[in-house]
Amino acid sequence: MNASSVLWTIELKIIKTVTDAASRILKISATVFSFCAVSSAAIAGVGEGQELYNAYCQICHGALGEGQTMGKPLTDGVANRLSDQDLLTVISEGRSGTGMVAWEGSLSETEIFDIASYIRNLQGKPALNLADNDAGPSDDPRVLAGEQLFNGEASCATCHSYGDQGGSVGPSLDGLSKRLGEDALMQALLNPSATIVSGYAAKEVEQEDGTIIRGRYRNDSELAVQIQSADGRRWVTYFKERVKSVRDSDQSLMPDTYANLAAAEQQILLAFLMSL
Ligand code: HEC
Ligand code: HEC
Repeated sequence: MNASSVLWTIELKIIKTVTDAASRILKISATVFSFCAVSSAAIAGVGEGQELYNAYCQICHGALGEGQTMGKPLTDGVANRLSDQDLLTVISEGRSGTGMVAWEGSLSETEIFDIASYIRNLQGKPALNLADNDAGPSDDPRVLAGEQLFNGEASCATCHSYGDQGGSVGPSLDGLSKRLGEDALMQALLNPSATIVSGYAAKEVEQEDGTIIRGRYRNDSELAVQIQSADGRRWVTYFKERVKSVRDSDQSLMPDTYANLAAAEQQILLAFLMSL
């Protein structure tokens, strides 16, 4: 038994105790993965994927997917080019003859989906998308026009999600109308820095050359911090020993797009937001 298989055996034992593998195996169908059939209510999402990744995968692939001796980077060109289906398949079925075992026995379909979504985030990409099958579309034309504006020209969807789609720099807007009264909503749109939703504050990383990067703070490990860029597309990793400082910012990442829309556009966008 070589060093890596000894470690692998230890890891397997940990997994056995932690996951109660026997009961999970029963839940897993041996047939083809059909992720579209998973109801979206059962999807715990990227956050859950991150916890699972940290528990089971980081030992070989590194805290931020940078790779470790026993694994390989999950953020390199090869892993980036895996299609969504290939990514799910390699996690489910493993790669025979390598340290990458099949996880479909010890993790559920949903858990594998969530981990794959988290890996996409580590690669600076949006999470995997499920077919949009809940919440029947509204038939109010103002709401529909507002939704188009939200996803299109106003670019709100770069940072905000509703249902299963959209970015994660800002909070999900599901249930918004129940959460915020009209005054609070207007303030969030017109003066976003007045109150900042907890967990969505901006951080500023000052690099050695003086350049400052602002973004949502996502992750911390001993060696590195991770900042989500303002366009939401990338989670950029900065190695702590290579930056000057990491600071909190009191300015919201949310731009003043709303204030600059024409009155009619503001109205349809509001109608859409109030429908969430
Ligand atoms: C014991 C170490 C080990 C553990 C634990 C491990 N992997 Fe791997 N993984 C590997 C190795 C080694 C490879 C490279 C296999 C090869 O040579 O093709 C790999 C390959 C992969 C790939 C394919 C990457 C590519 O570029 O083709 C993905 C995706 C992946 N692992 C995800 C995961 C996930 C998700 C977990 C946790 C559920 C995990 N791995 C746990 C060792 C590990
Ligand atoms: C660059 C990213 C970004 C864009 C683009 C953006 N937002 Fe935001 N938004 C945020 C962040 C980050 C927060 C949370 C911080 C805060 O409270 O200001 C936020 C907060 C909000 C809130 C308050 C949510 C709550 O739960 O209290 C609303 C409503 C909102 N945004 C609507 C919009 C709309 C509508 C648009 C498009 C016109 C938009 N945002 C565009 C980043 C963005």
